Amino acid sequence: MVEKITVVGAGNVGATTAQLLALKELARQVVMVDVVEGVPQGKGLDQWESAPVHGFDTRVVGTNDYAATAGSDIVIVTAGIARKPGMSREDLLRTNADIVRDVSAKLKTSSPEAIVIMVSNPLDVMAYVCKETTGFPRERVVGMAGVLDTARYRSFIAMELDVSVEDIQALVLGGHGDTMVPLASYTTVSGIPLRQLLPEDRIAALVDRARNGGAEIVSLLKTGSAYYAPAAAAVQMAEAIVKDKKRVLPCSAWLEGEYGMQGLFLGVPVKLGRRGMEQVIEVELTAEERAALGRSADAVRETMSLLG
Ligand code: NAI
Ligand code: 2OP
Repeated sequence: MVEKITVVGAGNVGATTAQLLALKELARQVVMVDVVEGVPQGKGLDQWESAPVHGFDTRVVGTNDYAATAGSDIVIVTAGIARKPGMSREDLLRTNADIVRDVSAKLKTSSPEAIVIMVSNPLDVMAYVCKETTGFPRERVVGMAGVLDTARYRSFIAMELDVSVEDIQALVLGGHGDTMVPLASYTTVSGIPLRQLLPEDRIAALVDRARNGGAEIVSLLKTGSAYYAPAAAAVQMAEAIVKDKKRVLPCSAWLEGEYGMQGLFLGVPVKLGRRGMEQVIEVELTAEERAALGRSADAVRETMSLLG
């Protein structure tokens, strides 16, 4: 357990994240900070009042003031507006870039040693805005997308094969968007290559569904985007850091030459431990997969260029 984890944004993803952090007792204190008065305080108090029932001692509080977040070990940023039907993640760019800049400047002052897990969209570009604004080293700014995209892909494979989700290992690389790259060659069911269990056309259909997994939830909810699986994914990353587990998870990381790329955040396998993003792991890719990753990087760069 660490002393303090701050969750910025007490909306759907933020509040669900705070609750999961408390249920897992990953910190002595979880602070939710939001610009709306009363909401983080109300949700924080409500969650703390569930502690006697659940049996956790993590003190959950809500605030509008960064003073309460001071000295956080980890900050999970979920502040921003969410996608509505017909809206791409890129449509969120300008509004969320202003929000993430403001939040990053504040957390740099209040928690200069924190490890930041970015969640706000468009994810890879918001991670970049945070890194630029805070000046934190790449080890301490990491984006959540690959764990979620991989979880969606794994959940669809489990349904298709009628097997446990626990036995499915998979890897989704690239930016968090329509160009993400689920790697069928690295997908196994307890070590059995997926290609031995499913024909190519079924795999392609599942890959396609995973690629559009965020939009599928948006079209059903109509008033916002997914939050249960996103919060679970962010908390898995926080747990790996808090417990120094050295988990190998697909996350958005700042590339410095890995995969032949630099100067952008992109989804790649990384090692997550107490120092944050401790290593980018390079895996062999086919020419086709490498080209798909390149196209995904181009899409991220194009969105970055819109920042001006
Ligand atoms: P939401 O609308 O429920 O919550 C957003 C919260 O941010 C609101 O409570 C709002 O008051 C707050 N906020 C706005 N400006 C703020 C500021 N300057 N400081 C602190 N709080 C501020 O939205 P939801 O569903 O929680 O999504 C949050 C973000 O996460 C969105 O950008 C969404 O697109 C993104 N997201 C990313 C995922 C990923 O895979 N990386 C998955 C799911 C959501
Ligand atoms: C998702 O993938 C909206 O990025 C969010 O659900």
